[in-house]
Amino acid sequence: MLMKNKILVTGGTGYIGSHTVVELQNAGFDVLIVDNLSNSSPDVINGIEKITGKKPELIVADCADITKMDEIFSTQPAIVAIIHFAASKAVGESVEKPLLYYRNNLLSLVNMLELSLKYGIHNFVFSSSCTVYGQPEILPVTESSPIQEATSPYGNTKQIAEEIIRDTVRANSSLKAICLRYFNPIGAHPSALIGELPNGVPNNLVPFITQTAIGLRECLSIFGNDYNTPDGSCIRDYINVVDLAKAHVVAVKRMLDNKNKQMLEFFNIGTGKGLSVLELVHVFEETTGVKPRYKIVGRRAGDIEQIWANASYANNELGWRAEEAITDTLLSAWKWEQALASKK
Ligand code: NAD
Ligand code: UD1
Repeated sequence: MLMKNKILVTGGTGYIGSHTVVELQNAGFDVLIVDNLSNSSPDVINGIEKITGKKPELIVADCADITKMDEIFSTQPAIVAIIHFAASKAVGESVEKPLLYYRNNLLSLVNMLELSLKYGIHNFVFSSSCTVYGQPEILPVTESSPIQEATSPYGNTKQIAEEIIRDTVRANSSLKAICLRYFNPIGAHPSALIGELPNGVPNNLVPFITQTAIGLRECLSIFGNDYNTPDGSCIRDYINVVDLAKAHVVAVKRMLDNKNKQMLEFFNIGTGKGLSVLELVHVFEETTGVKPRYKIVGRRAGDIEQIWANASYANNELGWRAEEAITDTLLSAWKWEQALASKK
């Protein structure tokens, strides 16, 4: 009899996907990665193999290509769940090229859901984002906080995706779905064998800090110190990427363990703590002993002033919680940057 134990991870060579593949393999699952390598490198597979001792299967394909994806599904009878990471994620680019984002992110999702139904795969985990909450009036945000108008096409794809998933599960009671709303994922695997590989100049804070610290960038710009926060800089909930990866394993197991239960769930995946930009930079300086140059500049258009998670629902319902200290997380990001530099 066929042992059905395989998880299809779309976008599995990407930043969060690769860390999740490690945790899935550590938990005993087989993994099939489908990635079109538009924002990742196949070398990531070697890093995963070095960490887990097992090479995940990789098929280079585009989730937006229904013919190709159908062909893949038809030859993969062991898949029991799908974790759908594959998406474009650059907020600024999405403002310039909205149709690219709607096509890639939404077409890929619709294809994956259609094929889940066609091939009787009942378990679906989706990468959503705290961006769906916009600037919340009440902090920390719970899962029932209002969804607000998206500030970018990228953010809108996450809101629409959640709606598509909701409608599809309502119409197909055999399909279970869990949407994980990530806060700000940072850091790298402690082995420094996998991590984030930003394309060009980083948009996100932590890669910019580590690249400045190592000398690839002159100076970090801190976008605003006149917000209505204790030190004037923006506040976020920075979640360790390995902790985040583990939440996906818990979500998959929850669906597999509750075969006869209908399921459509949304969880905040954060630490429950907010940290300001200046605080984060200072923690980095204290833990690594390296002081990246920084200057205060004007606000970045579209930035949210402050947001952090109420993660109680995920803590209590999933039995998951963020465990890594921010110091260790920043050290892992720094170790990864140093590992990248030593390869050059
Ligand atoms: P990433 O770019 O590192 O990974 C995404 C992967 O998907 C890449 O390897 C890319 O090559 C692949 N991909 C993109 N479009 C594809 C397609 N059509 N077919 C096949 N593969 C495709 O990004 P990440 O940070 O790992 O993000 C993963 C998911 O989490 C995304 O859906 C993203 O929107 C979501 N998310 C990320 C963050 C964050 O801060 N990184 C926050 C919230 C949500
Ligand atoms: C951004 C996106 C979000 C996306 C996430 C991951 C916006 C409005 N939001 O989140 O939708 O899910 O990236 O890709 O773009 N900062 C600096 N200097 C820098 C970089 C950042 O001061 O060089 C500040 C920002 O102003 C912000 C904080 O650091 O206050 C975190 O920024 P960033 O890492 O880009 O994440 P978000 O803006 O929270």
